[in-house]
Amino acid sequence: MKYYFDEIIDRHGTNSIKYDKMPVFFGRSDLQPLWVADMDFATPDFILNDLKKRLEHPILGYTLRKDSFYNSYINWAAKRYRWQVDKTWLDFSPGVVGALGISILALTREHDKIIVQPPVYHPFFDIIKGNNRQLVENPLIKQKNGRYRMDFDHLTSVIDDQTKMIIIANPHNPVGRVWQADELQKLGEIAVKNNLIIVSDDIHADFVYTPHQYTPLAGLSKAIAQQTITITSPSKTFNIAGLSTSIVIIPNEKYRLAYQRKLHDMHLFLGNIFGNIAFEAAYNNGEAWLEALLEYLQNNIRFVTDYLKQHIPNIQPVQPEGTFLMWLDFSNTGLTHEQIKDKLINEAKIALNDGLSFGKNGEKHFRMNIASPRKNLEMALKKLEIFQ
Ligand SMILES: Cc1ncc(COP(=O)(O)O)c(C=O)c1O
Repeated sequence: MKYYFDEIIDRHGTNSIKYDKMPVFFGRSDLQPLWVADMDFATPDFILNDLKKRLEHPILGYTLRKDSFYNSYINWAAKRYRWQVDKTWLDFSPGVVGALGISILALTREHDKIIVQPPVYHPFFDIIKGNNRQLVENPLIKQKNGRYRMDFDHLTSVIDDQTKMIIIANPHNPVGRVWQADELQKLGEIAVKNNLIIVSDDIHADFVYTPHQYTPLAGLSKAIAQQTITITSPSKTFNIAGLSTSIVIIPNEKYRLAYQRKLHDMHLFLGNIFGNIAFEAAYNNGEAWLEALLEYLQNNIRFVTDYLKQHIPNIQPVQPEGTFLMWLDFSNTGLTHEQIKDKLINEAKIALNDGLSFGKNGEKHFRMNIASPRKNLEMALKKLEIFQ
């Protein structure tokens, strides 16, 4: 392999949230961090080199995004997802969660209802409640084989006149589902029928493992596209989350103008020099690196799955179809959620994301980030043997 994902890079002391903020979240700093969703792999050279080149010029003033910025995503979407995106649909956001917040403020009113599908990425809850909208839960159903699915009957039953929006993650964090075209079609039809806006957070779109395929919801039909706001970024794919640069794709002109107005009212449209450069470099040059990364991650998933099966069958992983996150079920340990959590932190000394932060149905589950050199995972799994 041309790329070296086995390299262990010390990130302590780099102001990394994953490494340097553990005392705040876990009460101690001596844990192995497998929580926050960024990767322990070096950002690829074709991005770092473009950033270094820009630093050869000594002035870092205001910057603009040229057509080439948006074209890099349009070409990537056509090649990787077979999705034809029109340039007029695109705009910017200084972050995916930020774009969720702007969309909520632009397109719903206070006390409107917004639906989420827990267990789900916890900032979805915060951004809805923090902006004084009503949070409505449409929990995913965990099937016998551990695979989650959407509950369309329940979804239809919770929609009323006050319900204006649903936020989904595709692929889904933390359960690793890559929503299939038929599932998205069903969801899209419900949204069209009830005039719901679907905000699809597709930040993990590039992490999909064969035979699964990422389907952009807005690519399914014109009617569904008109109800959909897609938000994405190369930040997870190329490990550049610290550059806070993402885009929104809004085919519906009315929604797009409302989004743009809010973005401008809050003066959040500028972006930053390095984010723009990294975004373009990633989408223009990233395919070969991404293919190698996906192979490495797939082997990591296999490694963790086999290890747990052989040595710690009490911990049952949900097989991820996408993302670099593994959703681990500790129910068979016979311990309470709090006991599991305490053992993870104070005995195994591993920092995983608490399943309950993703919703009530995350009880006895914890999320492990497997985008780390295999040696790190091996070390973590050995420590997890206390749950045997
Ligand atoms: C589903 C999902 N959306 C958004 C984000 C964060 O995006 P941003 O940092 O651009 O706000 C994450 C990060 O873990 C995520 O998993």
